[in-house]
Amino acid sequence: MARRAVVTAGTGGIGLETALGLAKAGYAVTVVGRNAERGAWAVERINAGGGEPARFLQADLASLDEVRTLSERIEGELAVLVNNVGAMFEDRTELDGVEGSLVVNHLSPYLLTELLLPALQSGAPSRVVNVTTGAVALAKKVFDEVEPPGGYYGFHWYGRAKLANLAYTLDLATRLAGSGVAVFAADPGGAATDMTDGTMRNPKIVSPGLRLLWPLVRRKFERSTSGPASEAARSSIIAATDESLRTGLLIGAHGQPVTPIKAATDPRVIAAVRRLTERHAPVPDGISN
Ligand SMILES: NC(=O)c1ccc[n+]([C@@H]2O[C@H](COP(=O)([O-])OP(=O)(O)OC[C@H]3O[C@@H](n4cnc5c(N)ncnc54)[C@H](OP(=O)(O)O)[C@@H]3O)[C@@H](O)[C@H]2O)c1
Repeated sequence: MARRAVVTAGTGGIGLETALGLAKAGYAVTVVGRNAERGAWAVERINAGGGEPARFLQADLASLDEVRTLSERIEGELAVLVNNVGAMFEDRTELDGVEGSLVVNHLSPYLLTELLLPALQSGAPSRVVNVTTGAVALAKKVFDEVEPPGGYYGFHWYGRAKLANLAYTLDLATRLAGSGVAVFAADPGGAATDMTDGTMRNPKIVSPGLRLLWPLVRRKFERSTSGPASEAARSSIIAATDESLRTGLLIGAHGQPVTPIKAATDPRVIAAVRRLTERHAPVPDGISN
């Protein structure tokens, strides 16, 4: 029987390219997205490659309730989980009472991973790949509360939520060492996608200091997000498939392991992220190990 892979936000952008790469590598791929038409189209595209039949599961990963329901629909053994979903909000947004960047970029992939650990353990040797970003470098490294002090700037809050997820990812690799479930972070670099074509054109997503330099910042954003999604998917595909890699690595945009920023391995950051995460995305006893 074919080994199964799940790619979240896998019906477009970098996620679809990741799904195509995993299908080519022989996996039976399930893509997750909100829009059923987009899902059907993605499945058609993957199946056109002639590999194992693909499947679409509909879920809005901005809702932790929908994440819980999704996890129940993914039954049996799982070989690969790529948590590719991510979002940047121009304006401060709340989702079920919690700030939206933290929900979509960290709490949601965290919860899905924890709920699918039994499936990943049954499918071992298996892998979790969490998609990160260079924006982690411009994040406030404070995780005592959901919202950091200071004003709301979408790009920085996105980076901070992704930093929480990166710290969790590297911590999870340690927690699962020897279990047969390997854990990776993957940085796609940048690509022209729905996400970058939208929010990254608005100067209000960066802090006032960077806003003063907006023409320069915008040019840097444009340059770094001008490539194709197929290229940006490479790091996730390598993290999911390269058997020479050891658990706990961050695969950079060029497809090679790179050193994560210091904050992601700082024990104080890891502990604060863990407390915050467990408070806002509780996992039922007996699932997590
Ligand atoms: N693009 C870049 O330059 C860049 C750079 C660094 C890191 N990243 C990271 O790479 C990952 C993919 O980025 P991308 O640029 O490809 O994103 P994207 O353009 O927003 O991805 C589109 C895909 O995400 C799905 N999606 C969006 N929101 C969703 C939700 N709430 N629930 C379920 N599915 C959802 C969409 O399907 P539906 O519309 O049908 O839901 C579609 O399949 C993200 O984690 C992002 O943070 C991207």
